[in-house]
Amino acid sequence: MKITFLGHAAVLLEGDHFKALIDPYLNGNPVYKENKNDISDITHIFITHGHIDHVGDTLEIAKNCDSLIICNAELAGIFYKKNPGLKLHPMHIGGRFHFDFGRVKMTPALHGSSYHDGDQVLNAGNPGGFLIEVEGKVIYHAGDTGLTLDMKLLESENVDLAFIPIGGNYTMDPKDALKAVDFIKPKIVVPIHYNTFSLIKADPVAFKEQVENAETIIMKPRDSIEL
Ligand code: NI
Ligand code: MN
Repeated sequence: MKITFLGHAAVLLEGDHFKALIDPYLNGNPVYKENKNDISDITHIFITHGHIDHVGDTLEIAKNCDSLIICNAELAGIFYKKNPGLKLHPMHIGGRFHFDFGRVKMTPALHGSSYHDGDQVLNAGNPGGFLIEVEGKVIYHAGDTGLTLDMKLLESENVDLAFIPIGGNYTMDPKDALKAVDFIKPKIVVPIHYNTFSLIKADPVAFKEQVENAETIIMKPRDSIEL
């Protein structure tokens, strides 16, 4: 499984017969470096919540690639209204489902989830994160969230790789993210959602120096790791 960071909270997962994006905020993402090959043949798109820096280019990519969009039921409803032809799989927090590629569980996040549609602000349900089991590996993408005690429950999920926000202001800062790592106990942690905008400045090196009992990988946009 090849995992590529696309900047901010956007991640590309590539396995056999599985090429998925999580929170594909690409156009307009100040730290995204374009590579058109990334954004072809996308089989699945996971969206943690309705904010524009997470929904990003979902609709365009899903139309072009005929991707299956996996998100909460309210956001799926908004997408269906906009384009009934989209392939949608609504889930909800705490729910787990066996897809053809593996199992997915939607996890809680402490955040908001509005969706801006023109001059309207729509309620896009509760924000979440994803536990994605694919090719024998467990990947956790926290989405946008503050620190929660619920994260302790993730320890029993044996997470191989956790994407954790550290940027503060809208989400956990490095101090709280350290506690999250202690709760979740992933083998590898990758900090995300920092230094994209002036309000979410954080130092990933200082964070890495303080993480205990997990390997911390600081990924620059377009960096890949093999899991
Ligand atoms: Ni958000
Ligand atoms: Mn965000």
